[in-house]
Amino acid sequence: MSVREADLGRGHDAVQGDVILNVQSLKKYFPIKKGFLQKTVGYVKAVDDVSFYIREGETFGLVGESGCGKTTLGRCVLRAIEPTEGSTVFKDREGRVSDLNELDNKELRKLRRDIQLIFQDPYSSLNPRMTVQNIVAEPLICNGIAHGDELRSRVRQLIEMVGLNSRHMDRYPHAFSGGQRQRIGIARALATNPRFVVCDEAVSALDVSVQAQILNLLQDLQRQLSLSYLFISHDLGVIQHISDRVGVMYVGRMVETARTEDLFRRPRHPYTEALLSAKPVPDPRRKSERIVLQGEVANPAKPPSGCYFHPRCPYAQEICKLQKPEWRKVGEDHFVACHLADELTLQGAIGS
Ligand SMILES: Nc1ncnc2c1ncn2[C@@H]1O[C@H](COP(=O)(O)OP(=O)(O)O)[C@@H](O)[C@H]1O
Ligand code: SF4
Ligand SMILES: [Mg+2]
Repeated sequence: MSVREADLGRGHDAVQGDVILNVQSLKKYFPIKKGFLQKTVGYVKAVDDVSFYIREGETFGLVGESGCGKTTLGRCVLRAIEPTEGSTVFKDREGRVSDLNELDNKELRKLRRDIQLIFQDPYSSLNPRMTVQNIVAEPLICNGIAHGDELRSRVRQLIEMVGLNSRHMDRYPHAFSGGQRQRIGIARALATNPRFVVCDEAVSALDVSVQAQILNLLQDLQRQLSLSYLFISHDLGVIQHISDRVGVMYVGRMVETARTEDLFRRPRHPYTEALLSAKPVPDPRRKSERIVLQGEVANPAKPPSGCYFHPRCPYAQEICKLQKPEWRKVGEDHFVACHLADELTLQGAIGS
């Protein structure tokens, strides 16, 4: 055990021992501009004071309804977009620890090898005019990792590692199925031999049978290559299958994090309970299941007072309207932001 309790609150000497990524008080506010002069009239608080950590070799699943800030959080962690505030402390392959949000572009470029992204949509994320060989080779060339014969053999090795036939390396993406394209995307993400991969809805666009194959592939690769994943999905079934620990987001805030079994067996936040009890609705557009809850999701540009969940929460008390609940520890690896977490006995999705 190496995450000190103090580090998980508001401390700043963040990553300890086997923790690869420690996010503290991360915020991303998008300005809302209006009128001819484009005056800022408010902010969409897409990520609002989020803290969590990921251990080496672990899969941290991030779940929540559409629009709750999962993608924005993933992109801030990669620094694909600039966070408004907060720290993202990362441990590199030499064991050096640095706050990604404080690095300049040159330092960040060096760390880019270690941190990669697998996108949701294998159709739009692969350049249709490039061969598979060139798509997978690109990050190796950009990072000056390989060239010539070595490059070709490394690409072949990557293609075979993700279960594709290396004789098809000279084909274009359109010649492949959705699942095969996602394999190409995975090969490209792993080309630089990263330590940490953000998978944003990586299987959501795929048929259910193909989803299982890709999830299994991601798990095999994780074991082989000691990868750590931030696995983002709106699909609870996928999250339960792949995650060691899970974080639940609601309107830009993390409301609960726990080990997967603890979260599904004994949730401590009413929103988690509501998610677990919601009957999944097949969503034909995404070929997966969608969570539908009672009541309106709060607007991140105009969130409610106190606990953002209070207008939808069946347990809400007066204090919930008045005060934001603190993020606090309620058990081993179990954190929650709810005033009543100690009093409520909530229903899980698996028997206790
Ligand atoms: N570039 C942007 N400018 C303004 N608002 C944005 C931008 N990107 C995302 N948002 C808003 O931030 C919120 C969170 O979005 P997102 O991170 O995509 O959620 P999720 O991935 O959970 O569906 C949404 O209200 C969305 O409209
Ligand atoms: S703080 Fe109150 S409103 Fe918010 S989830 Fe807990 S009980 Fe419900
Ligand atoms: Mg998203």
